[in-house]
Amino acid sequence: EGATFIKSALEGESFGMSGAKIIIEEFLVGEEISVFALTDGKSIKYLSVAQDHKRVFEGDKGPNTGGMGAYASTSLASPRLMEHVHNTIIIPTLETLKSQGIVYKGVLYAGLILTSKGPQVLEYNCRFGDPETQVLLPLLETDFALLVKAVVEEELESLEINLSPKKAVCFVAASGGYPGDYTKNKVIHGLDKTSSLVFHAGTKKEKHEILTNGGRVLNIVVLANTIKEARKKALVELEKISFEAMHYRKDIALKELTRPLVSVIMGSESDLPILKETLKIF
Ligand code: GLY
Repeated sequence: EGATFIKSALEGESFGMSGAKIIIEEFLVGEEISVFALTDGKSIKYLSVAQDHKRVFEGDKGPNTGGMGAYASTSLASPRLMEHVHNTIIIPTLETLKSQGIVYKGVLYAGLILTSKGPQVLEYNCRFGDPETQVLLPLLETDFALLVKAVVEEELESLEINLSPKKAVCFVAASGGYPGDYTKNKVIHGLDKTSSLVFHAGTKKEKHEILTNGGRVLNIVVLANTIKEARKKALVELEKISFEAMHYRKDIALKELTRPLVSVIMGSESDLPILKETLKIF
């Protein structure tokens, strides 16, 4: 499977020039979280911690996509875990940048895997995440413009960032065939019937119709007091929207409801030997 994928990545069109070279990395096992650290170069503040769903099929099966959905905040991000992430990942990264003459200002997005050896960095991005932003920004009660201003003017420390205690869930409606070759120009129905937040991604307007124009077409976002409630409402809203060969994962944020309590507390996997290792870290 690996060899076939590498061959298609190197020879195929799917990755363009990015597919000209490959890097083989250690496979990290564990749940993934997306941490968004804001910094003005002096202080650091955090937005809600989200969890992306990268695989195309339910149960985290199938090829990777740009993200089939996300939710925030995840209970994996316990205060203890976040302190650990702050001290061992975010601060050292920003300090290293500083020591190289780079004063980083903006959002540092750390994609982490919660492994048996503790949280490991999978990737950094100097931007917000997609689809994480679709759940982060609706939960942000502080004016986003004030937040940007505080970062630019180095006044982040005095800015109070208010995050809603609610939970947000985002389901991505994708085109038939995505993440492979996908269909386009399909009429999207039902957008006027939904009461959820809808962020357009791969769409275009032609005359009076909205058509599909990308792999990931729409982001359906619902906020509620609990993940369970948000999921339930979003799934009802999704039923109102349709286009030919539309597909989406119904299990977005389901892990949050089924994860054993012990792993919620520790921010790691439920497997006992692994937990013992994790306990040593914490
Ligand atoms: N959610 C993955 C990314 O934005 O890169």
